[in-house]
Amino acid sequence: MSTIGWVTSALPSNDSSTRQEVLVVDFGAQYAQLIARRVRELQVYSRIVPHRISADEVAAAQPAGIILSGGPKSVHVDGAPTLDPAIYDLGIPILGICYGAQLIASQLGGAVGRGMRGEYGRAEMTCTAASDLLTDDMPAVHDVWMSHFDAITEVPDGFVATASTPDAPVAVLESTPRKIWGVQFHPEVVHSPHGMAVLSQFLHQLAGCDPEWKMSSVVDEQVGLIKEQVGDARVICGLSGGVDSSVAAALVHRAIGAQLTCVYVDTGLMRKGESEQVVETFRRNMGIELIHVDAGQRFFERLEGISEPEAKRKAIGELFIRIFEEHTGGLSEAKFLVQGTLYPDLIESGGVDGTAEVIKSHHNVGGLPEDMTLELVEPLRELFKDEVRALGSELGLPDEMVWRQPFPGPGLGVRIIGEVTPERVAVLQEADAIVREEIALAGLEREIWQAFAVLPDIRSVGVMGDERTYGHPIIIRAVTSDDAMTADWARLPYDLLERMSQRIINEVPGINRVAYDITSKPPGTIEWE
Ligand code: XMP
Repeated sequence: MSTIGWVTSALPSNDSSTRQEVLVVDFGAQYAQLIARRVRELQVYSRIVPHRISADEVAAAQPAGIILSGGPKSVHVDGAPTLDPAIYDLGIPILGICYGAQLIASQLGGAVGRGMRGEYGRAEMTCTAASDLLTDDMPAVHDVWMSHFDAITEVPDGFVATASTPDAPVAVLESTPRKIWGVQFHPEVVHSPHGMAVLSQFLHQLAGCDPEWKMSSVVDEQVGLIKEQVGDARVICGLSGGVDSSVAAALVHRAIGAQLTCVYVDTGLMRKGESEQVVETFRRNMGIELIHVDAGQRFFERLEGISEPEAKRKAIGELFIRIFEEHTGGLSEAKFLVQGTLYPDLIESGGVDGTAEVIKSHHNVGGLPEDMTLELVEPLRELFKDEVRALGSELGLPDEMVWRQPFPGPGLGVRIIGEVTPERVAVLQEADAIVREEIALAGLEREIWQAFAVLPDIRSVGVMGDERTYGHPIIIRAVTSDDAMTADWARLPYDLLERMSQRIINEVPGINRVAYDITSKPPGTIEWE
């Protein structure tokens, strides 16, 4: 196959000239994403930018405000990231958080003490002077969440310190005339009970942003942009059954209707009932033209005799692409391909800072044929996952689809240890459906990141009635997580585990034992293969 022929669009930018945006300057930790999400929860559009951004670039973007994020470094470390100092003089309201606040102090002529005691976790903050950032309805003494080693000891000329904690003499600094404020604590985390009020005060009052960012306006705006991008060309979308491709397809369909053709390659490795739901929702309920390729048999043939995890992934991925191409080849006039790329995908693949972290390439099976020259339509590339779900609901997708848990591209193929056969898939589908059903009945669906069953390639002895059995076990895996990079095993109630175990053994032939996986990630992974 020849090289990838995608024409990738540029980084997300402020597409709408009328939309107010806040730039979140990323100083290299994970804080920037959470801050950007909080800003959007306060209904102001936010965009993460690298700390190397210049004053000219900021001026050109005309943001309504700038937030300097926390970062992992001390301002005293060699090579610690800084901000183009000319940005402070643009007259755009700035809020510095943690490292961002220390940077304001050190770049504008204050002082940041070294080798102090540091402060990690909850701290009691006392307001010490009249403040424009801390409003009157916040208690004069309240808890904030701290995570710093150095601390600001002197504010720059023209600034006042308005709050302190036992280990941070300057917990808040401000200069309303210069429109620059800084907080040593983390207002974006839930452990700072008045944090959202601080962010709201900065955004809505001090920076004058209107709370206008909402899903209905995203739909209108994206519909316009999609129409403009594709004109009257034909567009293809590969559906995986997952949230992102489903919402992207629904949004593009809202914009261009019958110009869109969706292709759903059914690998036979989907969960119970999943394929029917995709067809039902898209073809029948939404009237989208859908090519449903029932390819299970081909996948099973291809997987015969393969038991090594990476070999399975590769086999499934390659066949998927081949089948996708076979069924889109006829759509020769198609010029565009829809992809459910999200904002964090761009950030994680180095899109924002260029300092790429490893993209999760093996997580992308299912959707990237290599030798088609199609231009990408990526209507979700500005959105975080929770926003994509909200958008899906706004577009009328069913809850089951919108709240679907992440599911690996190679499907149940990587949850069956050893060879994948139709019989083993059928067993796993039944057991997996019970696990998910019981989680839903217990009302835990939204607290659990993923809950599923695994079928290992071992057998054990049991006894059922008077008979000795020699069957397979099912492993239940349920984890909590924020982003799948780390995860903890879910502390499911014993009676729930008992119900799952009883049902699986009673209802799924060939299973005589159930075990619960109590491994976190790291050292384990979420999936078993
Ligand atoms: P691990 O097992 O690496 O999984 O802890 C992290 C997250 O990624 C999903 N996952 C995959 N997704 N193709 C995908 O599209 C894959 O091959 C794949 N492997 C793991 C997994 O379900 C979890 O959410």
